[in-house]
Amino acid sequence: MLLRSKPGLLLLLLGPLGPLSQGALAGPRQAKDIVELDFYTERPLHLVSPAFLSFTIDANLATDPRFLTFLGSPKLRTLARGLSPAYLRFGGTQTDFLTFDPKKEPTFEERSYWQSQVNQDICKSGLLLSDVKKRLQLEWPFQEQLLLREQYQKKFKSSTYSKSSVDMLYSFANCSGLNLIFGLNALLRTADLQWNSSNAQLLLDYCSSKSYNISWELGNEPNSFWKKAGIYIDGLQLGEDFIELHKLLVNSTYKNAKLYGPDVGQPRGKTVKMLRSFLKAGGEVINSVTWHQWLDKLGLSAQMGIEVVMRQVLFGAGDYHLVDENFEPLPDYWLSLLFKKLVGTSVFMASVKGPERSKVRVYLHCTNTNHPRYKEGDLTLYALNLYNVTKRLQLPYNLFNKQVDKYLVKPSGPDGLLSKTVELNGQTLKMLDEQTLPALTEKPLRPGSSLGLPPFSYGFFVIRNAKVAACI
Ligand SMILES: *[C@@H]1O[C@H](CO)[C@@H](O)[C@H](O)[C@H]1NC(C)=O
Ligand SMILES: *[C@@H]1O[C@H](CO)[C@@H](O)[C@H](O)[C@H]1NC(C)=O
Ligand SMILES: *[C@@H]1O[C@H](CO)[C@@H](O)[C@H](O)[C@H]1NC(C)=O
Ligand SMILES: *[C@@H]1O[C@H](CO)[C@@H](O)[C@H](O)[C@H]1NC(C)=O
Ligand SMILES: *[C@@H]1O[C@H](CO)[C@@H](O)[C@H](O)[C@H]1NC(C)=O
Repeated sequence: MLLRSKPGLLLLLLGPLGPLSQGALAGPRQAKDIVELDFYTERPLHLVSPAFLSFTIDANLATDPRFLTFLGSPKLRTLARGLSPAYLRFGGTQTDFLTFDPKKEPTFEERSYWQSQVNQDICKSGLLLSDVKKRLQLEWPFQEQLLLREQYQKKFKSSTYSKSSVDMLYSFANCSGLNLIFGLNALLRTADLQWNSSNAQLLLDYCSSKSYNISWELGNEPNSFWKKAGIYIDGLQLGEDFIELHKLLVNSTYKNAKLYGPDVGQPRGKTVKMLRSFLKAGGEVINSVTWHQWLDKLGLSAQMGIEVVMRQVLFGAGDYHLVDENFEPLPDYWLSLLFKKLVGTSVFMASVKGPERSKVRVYLHCTNTNHPRYKEGDLTLYALNLYNVTKRLQLPYNLFNKQVDKYLVKPSGPDGLLSKTVELNGQTLKMLDEQTLPALTEKPLRPGSSLGLPPFSYGFFVIRNAKVAACI
């Protein structure tokens, strides 16, 4: 999902970060493998949000609410916390097939989740019991098949969620330091096709009674409602629906909450027309315009001024997970974590000189100075090598002698591209225990050395003491 606010906020949903494959070790050093870089660091191109890299829990996890208890996994929470600050978007196609039922009883699994409460601290209570977890994990492959089949056949079943489901989602977000964006059902319609807001009102009342801090979204890909539900909603109507939702928010504790939308598919042709009439009708009430795109590079998004990128999905059914069904972090999780820790919010122009430009991608930001090792003025370069041979990046002349920390990520083990684990600078990354992420240890390079990037690998390079004024 892409999101651009009226002054320029843009959110984007996208797939994996980029190719990673077995990195062959550096061969003999050859002049033709040197790639010269050009930086322009006078002024940032853009500022992205500290939550630039954000993610989604697909709303289909609530189709059978028992599976929401997965969100009580301490390990999953530790992994999520590693990626904070970030938005957690609860959305996806199922958004428009879910209704809130405040009278619905929690399932046995949900009850046991809340009963495991050991003290008043909500973040320490409600954790996933191991017998419940084992049972749900056994059942999950069938549930996942079911969800994927629905997705494939574009036949979606409506379902309801309870107060307990909302509580579980919120406590996961809050205890992981994430800001929840909740997608409301936009397919609830009156006979004359206006949005019927009564169910949203029930949910707002409930969330408000619990003082939950939530941002809101209405509907998912409304441009494809016809395909999914046989209902055609034009941009003008959608704009009016957002105005209606805005009215509800203003008359609630969510006066200042953010409202995002319309989350249409790739804006072209008919969709552009829809977006235009939507903005005409409802543009005033939304904080940011969102749409889907599949641009597949974080760096490119940052260069384009996209302020937040929503990665699909932290956990659940679908292709692009960061964390698998056993709560094990996948290669993309580690790349996201490195990105979070090393990459700051100011984006600069960086380019590759010569023909290598098409296969060596480089992106340059100020370094994230929340990292204890780095300070204001430092630069983080991240680079992707799509060649099947090692390339050596050469910093611009004025930075040539700076100290550089390398963070090189490669798949580990014999499985190559299919590997579920990765190495950082030669060390396999894994959690130390359920509460502890591993240290992400740099490899300092000799000043003046080129930055080696094996075939199909991804590397972060922190240029220390760069003293870039625009980063201070
Ligand atoms: C979590 O909730 C606490 C208490 O309501 C609040 O102070 C904190 O800001 C919340 N954190 C997030 C990320 O919403
Ligand atoms: C809106 O939905 C509610 C709940 O289903 C229903 O009771 C109400 O009649 C609907 N309102 C309109 C105008 O259709
Ligand atoms: C509520 O969340 C938003 C981000 O979504 C944040 O900017 C704001 O400070 C939060 N408000 C409170 C009272 O925590
Ligand atoms: C505002 O909210 C209150 C309580 O939720 C409700 O009784 C009232 O009708 C609402 N007013 C409008 C204009 O929607
Ligand atoms: C690299 O790719 C080129 C074609 O693009 C091919 O000719 C060459 O054999 C490949 N080398 C290796 C080591 O795979």
